[in-house]
Amino acid sequence: MTLLITGGAGFIGSNFILDWFEHMDEEIVNLDALTYAGNSENLWPLAHDPRHVFVRGDIGDAALVSNLLARYRPRAVVHFAAESHVDRSIRGPEDFIQTNVVGTFRLLEAARAYWQALPSGSPFTFLHVSTDEVYGSLTMDAPAFTERNRYEPNSPYAASKAASDHLVRAYHHTYGLPVLTTNCSNNYGPLQFPEKLIPLCLHNALAGKPLPLYGDGLQIRDWLYVGDHCSAIRRFLETGAPGEVYNIGGWNEKTNREVVETLCAILDELSPRTDSKSYREQITFVQDRPGHDRRYAIDATRIERELGWKPAETFASGIRKTVRWYLDNQAWVDQVASGAYRNWIDRQYGACACAFF
Ligand code: NAD
Ligand code: DAU
Repeated sequence: MTLLITGGAGFIGSNFILDWFEHMDEEIVNLDALTYAGNSENLWPLAHDPRHVFVRGDIGDAALVSNLLARYRPRAVVHFAAESHVDRSIRGPEDFIQTNVVGTFRLLEAARAYWQALPSGSPFTFLHVSTDEVYGSLTMDAPAFTERNRYEPNSPYAASKAASDHLVRAYHHTYGLPVLTTNCSNNYGPLQFPEKLIPLCLHNALAGKPLPLYGDGLQIRDWLYVGDHCSAIRRFLETGAPGEVYNIGGWNEKTNREVVETLCAILDELSPRTDSKSYREQITFVQDRPGHDRRYAIDATRIERELGWKPAETFASGIRKTVRWYLDNQAWVDQVASGAYRNWIDRQYGACACAFF
């Protein structure tokens, strides 16, 4: 048996593949375009492992995807590949439409043709990895998102993911394609590209640079350790019912300010500044993200009740593991913080990127 994974060189995809081989022996074919966010080094422990086949290519390449499906005959497609960074979608939405909407459409078309030609009764699932951002923003006193919340995506990223969710749903409703959609909250953990809040702040803290908080820093996200997202997806591949949608979350609502202050406190303990001041001194309030969603929160009741899944990490345990990982893997951070990365940071943060120098 084989799985076809898309985007397996990115943050969650590479964690998923590494986690998969700790629990399963089933082969994985990993299709990834290696955009700025993809890094084949993430999978170095599998360099000589015949169970992992890496293919560099685009999910929008219909001929390539059809060939891979025909050749490897997977029992599931797990679709992680996406443009995933909200700030980049604000500065340049086109790639998001191309990959998240058109790319997902092409993948669905290839999966449909493959599945329709399978002998009847053959197992097949198209598992679409999506986000809580499709539901829009919550007020402070609103209940957390359930699977029944209406879609109100606010950023180009969220709108492109919402469009892909609708396509996936339609392929089930119209053609009967056995799909599953998961809408997960903010992930954190090892191997996350340092454009996202947690790895960016860890990287900047150790480099003596500002820790940029957008606006008042009181926006709320609901954090899930990436290993828990991976275990939830494994569970879906075992037991999830076709056509269903599940929210995934860890009941960990935190303001961005709390998150960054927690990082500072752990760094103060594990890797104190040479001047013995706290890393908190580096926190800097910068211009807010346009259209910034104020609060996300996931109601994870359904996945807990129906699949018996619960996260293994609390925020306190997961964030400590994460800080340790970044401290122990500075070479990885240096490798991904390339010239192209620095260009992005300069464009996004302007003068703030140069402060402290
Ligand atoms: P990421 O940006 O770290 O990785 C995306 C991967 O997709 C990269 O390896 C990239 O090279 C690859 N890719 C991009 N365009 C491609 C294309 N056209 N063809 C093939 N490969 C392509 O993203 P991530 O944070 O790992 O997110 C993975 C998925 O999970 C995304 O679909 C995202 O929307 C979803 N998600 C992410 C989070 C989060 O907090 N990071 C939370 C919920 C859902
Ligand atoms: O909710 C799930 C989503 O979480 C995923 O679908 C996205 O792919 C993923 O990128 C993430 O989106 P966010 O926009 O929530 O993540 P990010 O790390 O970019 O930002 C987290 C919060 O921190 C958000 O409120 C914006 C804020 N922020 C972010 C950066 C990069 C800052 O205050 N300063 C920053 O420099």
